[in-house]
Amino acid sequence: MDKSKRKAIIAGNWKMNKTPSEAKALLEELIPLVKDADCEVIACVPYVDLAVAIETTKGTNIKIGAENCHWAESGAFTGEVSTGMLKEVGVEYVVLGHSERRQYFGETDETVNKRTKAALAAGLKPIVCVGELLWERECDITEEVIARQIKLDLFDVSAEDVKKTVIAYEPVWAIGTGKTATSDQAEEVCAFIRATLAKLYDEETAQAVTIQYGGSMNADNCDELLAKTNVDGGLIGGASLVAAKFQPIVAAASK
Ligand code: 13P
Repeated sequence: MDKSKRKAIIAGNWKMNKTPSEAKALLEELIPLVKDADCEVIACVPYVDLAVAIETTKGTNIKIGAENCHWAESGAFTGEVSTGMLKEVGVEYVVLGHSERRQYFGETDETVNKRTKAALAAGLKPIVCVGELLWERECDITEEVIARQIKLDLFDVSAEDVKKTVIAYEPVWAIGTGKTATSDQAEEVCAFIRATLAKLYDEETAQAVTIQYGGSMNADNCDELLAKTNVDGGLIGGASLVAAKFQPIVAAASK
């Protein structure tokens, strides 16, 4: 992390976990544990948990995010949720292009780009996820895959808007597998993402963007990962579901 240049952000991605009452209980446990954090703390929660999560965290330093949004303002899109709906309930962040959406729900770079632009236009801050599959890494095309995702997902996004966007580097082979990228692997790709942003925009813009690492980040490996210059935080799955496991990651980012 380089806190002199950009915001450190630790975000939980709860995925399809926690009912509204469970969400309230987890957040109530978390609030006192992270109240003195010197980093941004976010919980990205299922749609049905948003209202209770926002109510529970009112007046605290925990911000609430959604796990997706549609690009249209309204219409015949059964099962989808618009940016306007999220804004009205008080959501600040939204995870987009998560590998689980890409893998199981047909999300493409084109739809990630549409959702990103819609989120920014509505005043939501997108957390755009990119990452290579194991076989892509084995074929030594990680950089091509990441560059392609960054270029397509951020197509037509202005420099001003990209500074409000968080990029999460999540190698797909490290998600929920217990396999973490080494801190050197994470730094290498996060630095490559920043270099790609510098080419697409300019150095000053690239330096302002928060780039997180995600994939089996936990209390044991977070210090080493967060010590890297270009790893500005984490997007945490499993370890965000237990307050006592999430708190040490927030503490590590607060150093
Ligand atoms: P895990 O931390 O469970 O590996 O999940 C990472 C992730 O996908 C966060 O978005």
